Amino acid sequence: MSPHGLLLPLRRTAKGLFRKLGYEVHRLPTHNPSAPYETVHPRATYAPWRRDQAFLHVYRQVQNRTLVDVYRLWELWTLVEQAAKADGALLEVGVWRGGSGALIARRAEDCGLDSPVFLCDTFRGVVKAGERDPHYRGGEHADTSREDVQRFLDKLGLSRAVLLPGVFPDETGDRIADRRFALCHIDVDTYQSAADILDWVWPRLNVGGMVVYDDYGCAVCGGIARHVEEQRSRPGCLVLHNLNGHAVLIKTAESPDTNDIAPALGSSPPRVAA
Ligand SMILES: C[S@@+](CC[C@H](N)C(=O)[O-])C[C@H]1O[C@@H](n2cnc3c(N)ncnc32)[C@H](O)[C@@H]1O
Repeated sequence: MSPHGLLLPLRRTAKGLFRKLGYEVHRLPTHNPSAPYETVHPRATYAPWRRDQAFLHVYRQVQNRTLVDVYRLWELWTLVEQAAKADGALLEVGVWRGGSGALIARRAEDCGLDSPVFLCDTFRGVVKAGERDPHYRGGEHADTSREDVQRFLDKLGLSRAVLLPGVFPDETGDRIADRRFALCHIDVDTYQSAADILDWVWPRLNVGGMVVYDDYGCAVCGGIARHVEEQRSRPGCLVLHNLNGHAVLIKTAESPDTNDIAPALGSSPPRVAA
């Protein structure tokens, strides 16, 4: 047996002993000291997801179909409810096996939102990897299919969730171009994908609407952090860094670029001076 194989049971026993004493033991990851990354351990202890039976029920249904942890899923759960105030459709780009998308769709139905929830994925894996994404080559997370995710949504009875297979917005944006949006969840891993999605959705986002980035705090998704930092100077936009790893953009005012698409929209926002 390799030294690694010998260490594993020892490590498990030690962890189990510490857990019985009320301590969690984690191995500290080795981070490049000059990079802006470290494992974040906030001292806050308020954890309302532990007592929210509706959330826990859905969490158990989706947890084997998502790469998103309980903290970010909880934030999505709460933001869907808040999104009702901005009155518009919901959008997720980066569905993979459907976990976070199903949770968003379930919460939207439970909150009585009657707008559709559009779930977009290539179902061929990550695209548009470039030099700003040193950890991605393209094609990662292709181990899923449209049919499998549709079966999962059907099993959960999520009739308002609509799958849009293809690169978004390039191949499927046209199908929903006349919509207004209240919430967009971007979980696509690469800089250019995220930038193209934001350019498309921002003028269609209602004031008070939000864009949530899953990968902002993730060391292998440096392209997403870079893209989000570039939004800090965007007019009419608040950028929040949540220590669970999310970045959240909140639209506070219509932007001049809305004029470019307003005529195509069903319920047009007030036109603003260019
Ligand atoms: C990390 S996974 C999404 C994880 C998922 N949200 C979950 O609950 O685990 C990233 C997904 O983004 C998809 N993707 C990346 N860029 C895309 C784009 N421009 N349009 C559509 N899908 C994209 C990939 O196919 C992949 O399935």
